[in-house]
Amino acid sequence: MQSLRLGNFWSVTRRLRHGWVILLAFLLGGCHYDLYNQPKDKTYDPSSFFADGRGSRPNVPGAVQANRVQTDTYLYTGLINGAKADVMPFAVNRALLARGQAQFNIYCAVCHGEAGNGQSAVAQRGGIIPANFHQPRLRVAPLSHFFVTITNGVYRGDTANNGYQSMFSYASRITPEDRWAIAAYIRALQLSQNATLDDVPPDQRATLGQ
Ligand code: HEC
Repeated sequence: MQSLRLGNFWSVTRRLRHGWVILLAFLLGGCHYDLYNQPKDKTYDPSSFFADGRGSRPNVPGAVQANRVQTDTYLYTGLINGAKADVMPFAVNRALLARGQAQFNIYCAVCHGEAGNGQSAVAQRGGIIPANFHQPRLRVAPLSHFFVTITNGVYRGDTANNGYQSMFSYASRITPEDRWAIAAYIRALQLSQNATLDDVPPDQRATLGQ
């Protein structure tokens, strides 16, 4: 069986003109002595070269990811001179709100409910009490309060919430831009739950059956 396969190989390569060149190319493909074999430390290798004995080096202090140079402080922290503010760091349009809605429904609705009222499957079964965004305190909270909450999470440090440490930080999972989109969408949710007939343009009130 084995020799049959080998025979097949030779007859195939012989039929290809210069089949042996192909074979040689395959064999030599694995040979590289250039920079491959040189004294170097691989990740996590111990090293006698550096004082701390480690081959891998720590980040240079102050280094930032190339595409994440954080010049716009408000965009990344939600704070202006250490204080929260009630403005967006960039323009809001319908597409951004749609993005915020999608991200909210993916990351937040599971606990806070799609209407943002804290009524959700997790709230019913998990024993934790997610915040209701329509409570008076959060309705008047500055917009960046929502950005900061998503960024840092909520850690109460007491047992008021059935002893749970409340809400995880989403900083590693949701980009700053998307956190703002979610904040804008939460504001839209708040408006939607507290709207009166006066908020509807007169020519569209008829569509509500009013
Ligand atoms: C695993 C459940 C869970 C998820 C998911 C979750 N939260 Fe929360 N969140 C909570 C709980 C619980 C609280 C209440 C914290 C408390 O008061 O103890 C809370 C509180 C809040 C508050 C109120 C903070 C305040 O000032 O009291 C905001 C705003 C909020 N969450 C926004 C969000 C947003 C936006 C998302 C999605 C990115 C999200 N949460 C995802 C559980 C969750």
